[in-house]
Amino acid sequence: MVQRVATVAFEGVEARPVDVQIQVSSGLPAFNLVGLADKAVTEAKERVRAALIASGLALPAKRITVNLAPADLPKEGSHYDLPIALGLMAAIGAIAADALEGYTVVGELALDGRIAPVAGVLPAAIGANARGHGLICPAECGCEAAWASPEMAVLAPASLIQLVNHFAGRQTLGRPEPRLEAGNTALPDLAEVKGQETAKRALEIAAAGRHNLLLCGPPGAGKSMLAQRLPSILPPLAPAELLEVSMIASVAGALQGGALTNRRPFRAPHHSASMAAMVGGGMRARPGEVSLAHGGVLFLDELPEFAPAVLDSLRQPLETGEAVIARANHRIAYPARFQLIAAMNPCRCGRAGEPGHTCRRGPRCASDYQERLSGPFLDRIDLHLEVPAVSAIDLVRPGPAEPSAAVAARVMAAREAQRARFVTLGRPDLFTNAEASGPMLETIASPDAAGGALLADAARLMRLSARGYHRVLRVARTLADLAGAESVGRAQIAEALAYRSAADRAAAAA
Ligand SMILES: Nc1ncnc2c1ncn2[C@@H]1O[C@H](COP(=O)(O)OP(=O)(O)O)[C@@H](O)[C@H]1O
Ligand SMILES: [Mg+2]
Repeated sequence: MVQRVATVAFEGVEARPVDVQIQVSSGLPAFNLVGLADKAVTEAKERVRAALIASGLALPAKRITVNLAPADLPKEGSHYDLPIALGLMAAIGAIAADALEGYTVVGELALDGRIAPVAGVLPAAIGANARGHGLICPAECGCEAAWASPEMAVLAPASLIQLVNHFAGRQTLGRPEPRLEAGNTALPDLAEVKGQETAKRALEIAAAGRHNLLLCGPPGAGKSMLAQRLPSILPPLAPAELLEVSMIASVAGALQGGALTNRRPFRAPHHSASMAAMVGGGMRARPGEVSLAHGGVLFLDELPEFAPAVLDSLRQPLETGEAVIARANHRIAYPARFQLIAAMNPCRCGRAGEPGHTCRRGPRCASDYQERLSGPFLDRIDLHLEVPAVSAIDLVRPGPAEPSAAVAARVMAAREAQRARFVTLGRPDLFTNAEASGPMLETIASPDAAGGALLADAARLMRLSARGYHRVLRVARTLADLAGAESVGRAQIAEALAYRSAADRAAAAA
C-alpha cells in the first residue's frame, strides 16, 4: 500500500503542491528517496530515521521507497523531513492512516524528534488554504501560518510525540493566533537632523509620491542620516501589502518569531553586494535585496562604489516592479516594487564643489566618479538633490525641528489623495504618482495657465527631454497633493524644476 502526504515546493513565493508517496514493502532493508531532490532533501533520510528512533519508533526492517511527485519539479530545502516522517508513521501504524488527510505538511526534524522551524510557512499556508487543506507546521511558525485564513486548521506541534498525542486525543494542540509585531522599537526620528530643511523637504516629497531620490553631497553632510529616517515618515503597510511583503520575508527565512510587522522594510545592502545578492538568485534562487525591499525602501549608500553591472541590473526591477531569475529549467519572478534612495559623494575625495578646494586630480576626480553611474539608471530617479554640509550655526543653535510623526501625517494625506484620484480614473492598480506613465501624467498633472507657461519656457531654455518633462510633471503633481491643491500651479512647477536631474542639467549646459 502507498501512503500519501501533501506538502509543497516553492517557486518564488508560490507554493506548488507536492505529493509525498511512501511505500513500505518486503525485500532487503533499504531507504530510498527519489523525485528530483537536492542534497538537503536526500539528507532527510538520516534525520527522519534518528527522529523516529528518538520518539520511540523504529523503522521496520523492510524496503522503504519515498517518491516526491511530480518528479520533474525540483525540490529544495529541509521542510520535507516532517511529511516524510509522518507518512512513514502512518505506514507503520503509529498514527491513523487517515489522520493526515486534508493537511499539508512542512517542517524540519532535529535528531531528537523535535520539529525545527523552516522558511516559507506563510506561502505554504496560503497554498494549503487555497486547496482547502489545513497545515501542520513547526511550533515556532504557527503564528505565521495562522495569517493565511482565520478558518483553516493549523497544527503547530513542537515535536513528533506531541503530534502523535494530538492525533490519539491525549493532548490537544490549540490553534496558534496570528501575531502582529507592534513595532515598538522607535525608528530614528527626523527631529534629530539639524538644519537641512531642503533635504528634509525632498525626503517628504519622495515619501509622499514614492519617488526615487538621489542625495549628493560632501561626507558628513548627513546623507545617510537622512535616508535612514525615511521609514519613519512612510505610511504603514496596508493589509494586502502586508501579506505580500511577509511572503517574501517568509521564503527568505527572515520572519522573526513568526510575527508579521506592518512597518515597511528598509534594506541597505553594502556596496560590495553581488548581482545575485541584489536581484536574487544563487544556488536556491533566493529573493534578493530588491525583493526584500518590496513595498519599502532600498537604500544604496555610496552609490558609485557599487559595481556598474549590479546597478544596471536594477533597471529592470525599477521599471517592471519584478525581479526575474531565469534558470535553465525554470523561471522565477519575485515581486520587487521598492523605493530607491541613493546617496553619493560628488567625487572620490568627497570635496568637489567645496569653496576654495582644488582637487589634485582636477575636474577629472568628479567626472570619473560620476561616470560610474549610467544615464538610463539615473533616468529612473525622479528627485536629484545636492546636500551641502550643514553650517555650524545650524549645529550649535538649531531651531525647533519637526518630528517625523507630523511629516508622516502630511505624507499619509497626500497618499490618500493620489489613491482616490487613481481609483476615480479607473486605475485601482496604481497607488502613487511615481507609478503614473507619461500619458497618464498629462491628464492628472496638466498645469494651469501660469504653470504651463513656466513649464514651456523651462522646457525650451533647459532643453528638457521628454523623460525630463514628465519627471517635472510627476514631482509637481506630488507637490500639489502635499499642498492639498486640486491642480498643478506655477509654484509647484517651479519647485519641481529645482529637483531635475544632473543629466537634464548637463543637457541644458551643452
Ligand atoms: N544635519 C545634521 N544634524 C545632526 N547631525 C548631523 C547632521 N549632519 C551630520 N550629522 C552628524 O554627522 C554624522 C555623519 O553623518 P552621515 O549621515 O553619515 O553623513 P554622510 O552620509 O553625508 O557622509 C552623523 O552620524 C551625525 O552625527
Ligand atoms: Mg554616508
